[in-house]
Amino acid sequence: MARITASVFTSHVPAIGAALDLGKTQEPYWQPVFKGYEFSKQWMKEHRPDVVFLVYNDHATAFSLDFIPTFAIGTAAQFQPADEGWGPRPVPVVQGHPELAAHIAQSVIQDDFDLTIVNRMDVDHGLTVPLSLMCGQPPAEDFHWPCPVIPFAVNVVQYPVPSGRRCFQLGQAIRRAVDSFDQDLNVHIWGTGGMSHQLQGPRAGLINKEFDNAFLDQLIADPATLAQKPHIDYVREAGSEGIELVMWLIARGAMSDCNGQGGQPRVAHRFYHVPASNTAVGHLILEDASAA
Ligand code: DHB
Ligand code: FE
Repeated sequence: MARITASVFTSHVPAIGAALDLGKTQEPYWQPVFKGYEFSKQWMKEHRPDVVFLVYNDHATAFSLDFIPTFAIGTAAQFQPADEGWGPRPVPVVQGHPELAAHIAQSVIQDDFDLTIVNRMDVDHGLTVPLSLMCGQPPAEDFHWPCPVIPFAVNVVQYPVPSGRRCFQLGQAIRRAVDSFDQDLNVHIWGTGGMSHQLQGPRAGLINKEFDNAFLDQLIADPATLAQKPHIDYVREAGSEGIELVMWLIARGAMSDCNGQGGQPRVAHRFYHVPASNTAVGHLILEDASAA
């Protein structure tokens, strides 16, 4: 059977993608950011998944105000890096996993979560920057992402956005779905976006280190209580774009301790750094108790 063995959490700042693509990773401003992911790239090589279920948000790239799915699952065989205004990032095409994606859609929809099924979707920095951070970006022409990826887009851009509680429960349903897929696959689930940041209005530039670190602590130790945090608290404390953090609760809700299947996950890596562009960068790797 398929099983979820780890969750990964990381910010997705677009300027990180630009720093990688333009060869600026060793500049003094960026060096400490990329240093925080050295461990992670090694860890990815040692714990290579068969599939990554990647929870992220689209930034008006594949979707627009014309239609706004709350939860969209990418069921295609391939996803192209999007042109976000400066041309598409020079990164590999993302290979999907249509079979597992279709199974998860079937299971999760029958489990009462009304997903939107998307058969064609370009993927923006919300998805490609976490992949670059975790998998590296060798300049080699034959570089491919290490495994297929199922993109799972959450609306955290246009109100109303889903609650943290809904996201957590959805993560639990995703675990049930993966558990019932009859191929032997090692699946990682990633929650991306955040941490505190606000890109607009009089509070633009807001960063809240205290909130972010308390969020990381509680995400590890007591995610069920964290899931009760109302969205207005995120916006007040972590800024208007800090609401991206609800996506981390989907990945956390999919771990075995949240599903009565095992103990707390092992914290393999924790990193926090300010600043990166307008954003606080947070990053966690949790190994599932069932993988021990
Ligand atoms: C920035 C952060 C984001 O999450 C985003 O989607 C766009 C820009 C920033 O820090 O500049
Ligand atoms: Fe964003």
